[in-house]
Amino acid sequence: MLGFLGEAVRNYRTTGAIAPSSRSLARSMTSNLDVLEGPRRFLEVGSGTGAFTRHILAGMEDGDRLDAVEISEAFAGDLEENLLAPYRRANPEQVVQVHQCPIEEARLDGPYHAVVCGLPFNNFPLSVTQKIFDIMLGALAGGGWLTYFEYVGMRPLKAPFVGKGGRNTLRDHGDYLSKLEREHNGRRSLIKVNIPPAWSVHLQAVPVN
Ligand SMILES: C[S@@+](CC[C@H](N)C(=O)[O-])C[C@H]1O[C@@H](n2cnc3c(N)ncnc32)[C@H](O)[C@@H]1O
Repeated sequence: MLGFLGEAVRNYRTTGAIAPSSRSLARSMTSNLDVLEGPRRFLEVGSGTGAFTRHILAGMEDGDRLDAVEISEAFAGDLEENLLAPYRRANPEQVVQVHQCPIEEARLDGPYHAVVCGLPFNNFPLSVTQKIFDIMLGALAGGGWLTYFEYVGMRPLKAPFVGKGGRNTLRDHGDYLSKLEREHNGRRSLIKVNIPPAWSVHLQAVPVN
């Protein structure tokens, strides 16, 4: 199994973490999936070594589909070899696929009933974050859920080390993500058992009027 830390050191901007997410965070990130009626389509963005993918697969049934999008060639190869290929062999009535590319370039096959996103948005320029949220929200079926996570206190922690421009970007990210939560009936859960602790944030497809 591929070392997460090695890939994080090589590509910290896109990996944005030093360890895979915990099971507690994975449970929270996938908590909306069970209530959806089948057949369901799931999109996972930024699968890494599969911390959330395992939980998505555990709840899948015949007729369901999972598209996992992962920018890192190493992570995508690891995911296919160790998780998706064996799962596919055991569950031929389900479609599970990894797309090795940035989500901005993925050929998606939606609409999706749920999107589970593990991207490190605080490492991205705001325009990239906005573009990615537009893609993910645009790919959701009516009533579907988009769930992402962010580490607790990450923006204030980074602020002293990133210069004025970086601080403005962090502040703009905070404002943008808060706006999304207001517009999409957002709710968040604190997950203490994770390195570091994190918020899972759930957004609904249909904006609240
Ligand atoms: C914080 S890690 C999360 C990995 C895994 N979901 C977890 O929680 O342990 C972020 C992942 O997003 C991937 N990633 C970053 N930018 C991406 C993009 N634009 N499109 C797809 N994947 C991306 C990284 O390679 C990395 O695997």
